[in-house]
Amino acid sequence: MALEIEVIINGQQKVLTIEPYDLLIDVLRREGYKSVKRGCSEGTCGTCTIILNGRAVKSCILLAAQAHKGSIVTVEGIGTRDQPHPLQQAFVEEGAIQCGFCIPGIILSAKALLDNNQSPTKEEVKQAMDGNLCRCTGYSGQIKAILSAAAMMRGEK
Ligand code: FES
Ligand code: FES
Repeated sequence: MALEIEVIINGQQKVLTIEPYDLLIDVLRREGYKSVKRGCSEGTCGTCTIILNGRAVKSCILLAAQAHKGSIVTVEGIGTRDQPHPLQQAFVEEGAIQCGFCIPGIILSAKALLDNNQSPTKEEVKQAMDGNLCRCTGYSGQIKAILSAAAMMRGEK
């Protein structure tokens, strides 16, 4: 039997009709949030990462019903081509993107970190990004980009 859930997605209040067994990734993609990518479907790769109530979570292992009354952020909500988020700007500047498939999840894990810790150490960045795999760019440029974005957000760049 279908259910209704209330969620805020990227600042917009929505009422979504879902099935009790729907996964959050599928509902978000069905609603047009195509930045949420399906990789492994088992909570390992991080391509489906979103921010739910301030925490980076993997939407392929959450039921959509678990997001009821929650607040979700996807990459569609954090920057535009003309006004990128500092993280997006730093990733471009550092050349930390190749195919891009992992990047929405990586940006959101990094955003959740920087929202809670303005001055992370390299080790803290590595730990926060532990659940996000990238098979083509490698991680050193991405870590550099996250530290650079943190400096931008502190007004040091
Ligand atoms: S698709 Fe969700 S962690 Fe891989
Ligand atoms: S940029 Fe290709 S998988 Fe990360």
